[in-house]
Amino acid sequence: MIKKKFSLLIFKRPAGGLSYEPIVLISMLFISFFFLAACAKTNTEYKRVNKKYLYLKKLSKDKNTHKFLDAYWKARAHEGIPPRKWPKLQKSLSSSSCMACHYDQYAEWKKSRMAHSMDAGVVGQLLLKKMTSKHWKPWAMSCLSCHSPLAEYYIKYNKYKGLNKKEKNILRNGTKGEKAMVTALNALKIPMAGGTLSVSCAACHVRYYHRFGPDVEKYMKQGKIAHGGFIPAKAFTKSYFCIKCHQFPQDNRRLKGKLFENTYGEWKKSIYAAKGISCETCHTPQGSMAFKSIYNKNFVLKAITIHLKKVKVHSGKVTTTLSLTNSGVGHDFPTYTTPKVILSIAQEKAGGNIIRKSIKRYIIGWSVSLNLKKQYFDTRLKPFQTAKLIYDYPLLEDSKYIRAWVTVKPESHYTRFFKAFLKIKTLPKIIKIIFSSALKEDMHSKYLLWEKRVGA
Ligand code: HEC
Ligand code: HEC
Ligand code: HEC
Ligand code: HEC
Ligand code: HEC
Repeated sequence: MIKKKFSLLIFKRPAGGLSYEPIVLISMLFISFFFLAACAKTNTEYKRVNKKYLYLKKLSKDKNTHKFLDAYWKARAHEGIPPRKWPKLQKSLSSSSCMACHYDQYAEWKKSRMAHSMDAGVVGQLLLKKMTSKHWKPWAMSCLSCHSPLAEYYIKYNKYKGLNKKEKNILRNGTKGEKAMVTALNALKIPMAGGTLSVSCAACHVRYYHRFGPDVEKYMKQGKIAHGGFIPAKAFTKSYFCIKCHQFPQDNRRLKGKLFENTYGEWKKSIYAAKGISCETCHTPQGSMAFKSIYNKNFVLKAITIHLKKVKVHSGKVTTTLSLTNSGVGHDFPTYTTPKVILSIAQEKAGGNIIRKSIKRYIIGWSVSLNLKKQYFDTRLKPFQTAKLIYDYPLLEDSKYIRAWVTVKPESHYTRFFKAFLKIKTLPKIIKIIFSSALKEDMHSKYLLWEKRVGA
């Protein structure tokens, strides 16, 4: 019956007598051909990616975690297609989609530097490069491979689809800074959505749409409830996991023989490597995704020892020593050229005002010129090294107290960097707006780590 109706539908002759059967037949043939070709293409694409996924899965069990990680960092989060039967939420690779089920990890990560790795400072630099150089793409992709791995893929394969609703709304109602950021990302063809901005959850945990993670029993026991379960890999607790973005290769540019990023190298030489205390032991304890660092006062205080020697006044002179020991940082303190830690001692008047000329300072850090070609000093502390500020200064007339304090400038290098740029008169307006907000954020990050006041 159905068959009859179907044939009637197609083979009924039109009143005019003109036959269009062959046209219908040919177009149907074409449609089915394209449909089959599309299916075959998806199928071969699926098979090709699935083969790579199965290989990575196999490597995850290998005793040699380096072999797995080398392959893991070459693989992409969103290469291939997510299994069709997964709900939309589980197919999504944006960090906010992970939040629905991994709330604690999301809340911690959101506050960490990882979630801010595509803030104004980085985006402004990328746009400036695009405005001034034809060859900006390879340069931008090298930055993005660390600062925003999913965006690197977007640029490489031209996946940008234009502004979405939220971005258009920002362009209408956002602040000057927000508008500039959306305009910049649009010019760079990097979408804001989909977990592309920042070192997102998917950048570390997803390959070919499949989740990889440490072999935590709590999750292993749950079975495959969501996103087809996950692939447990020991590599997630090893320091080598972090080298993709925290260690420059040996053949990279050096200053005075030193690599600009050598955190893994510093750790490897330390007692922590020998004791099996990895980056994760300190930075992701109990599966925390907070990635605490030099920005976190209490985290830093726990890893250093500060001591102020008894203040002596003798023959009209004040003497004391403020010392800071790297007693618990698993690498140089600090590891990069970016932060500075400043020890200060000064005399204070009764009302609490510091007497300027009595201030003495000692800066811990690696200070380099903005073009990275000149070293001013390198006073970073290797594990268990101590820095000392020796104070030996005449006791001033109105001096009532001796004050010692330690300040941290987590973004010291970049503060100088953006200040220098903002002095350039020909800097495009949009870059000026973006760099101004980067500078504001950087200066805002300065904080008082420790202080003590004793009678003079
Ligand atoms: C820079 C890489 C990186 C990023 C970004 C990252 N993770 Fe992790 N994640 C790790 C590592 C490494 C571990 C293993 C930590 C350990 O066992 O010490 C881990 C552990 C976990 C665990 C297991 C936790 C447990 O109980 O032990 C979950 C779940 C997780 N991450 C989810 C997330 C989510 C969700 C996000 C985003 C909000 C995220 N991760 C962002 C690297 C990352
Ligand atoms: C995909 C690249 C990537 C991987 C992998 C990665 N990081 Fe990061 N990490 C970054 C970037 C980029 C930043 C800087 C964000 C910013 O300040 O703009 C950062 C920042 C940090 C910070 C804060 C630094 C600061 O200046 O205060 C810590 C701590 C950190 N990472 C630890 C780790 C540890 C531990 C691992 C390994 C478990 C790891 N990271 C793996 C890219 C990565
Ligand atoms: C090997 C990984 C890696 C590459 C490649 C890389 N960065 Fe970074 N970058 C980091 C890490 C890690 C930090 C955080 C540590 C620090 O504060 O120095 C950082 C910090 C920064 C900061 C200061 C923090 C902020 O968010 O304002 C800026 C700006 C920056 N990078 C820009 C760039 C640019 C531009 C490029 C490309 C030329 C680039 N980076 C390439 C890893 C990388
Ligand atoms: C619908 C809820 C849901 C969503 C959405 C979700 N997960 Fe999961 N995830 C789970 C459950 C449940 C488990 C435990 C294993 C299982 O049952 O599949 C898990 C396990 C994991 C693990 C393994 C933890 C370990 O011990 O190694 C990682 C890593 C992970 N998820 C990452 C992510 C990331 C990254 C996203 C976002 C891109 C995400 N998940 C989105 C529910 C979810
Ligand atoms: C024994 C604990 C410990 C270990 C192990 C450790 N860290 Fe840290 N890390 C710290 C502490 C504490 C800080 C904050 C003080 C500082 O900035 O040096 C820190 C700071 C950082 C920073 C901030 C930037 C800076 O200039 O200092 C980065 C990035 C970082 N660690 C990455 C790593 C990586 C990558 C590894 C593994 C190769 C690692 N850490 C191993 C304790 C540790």
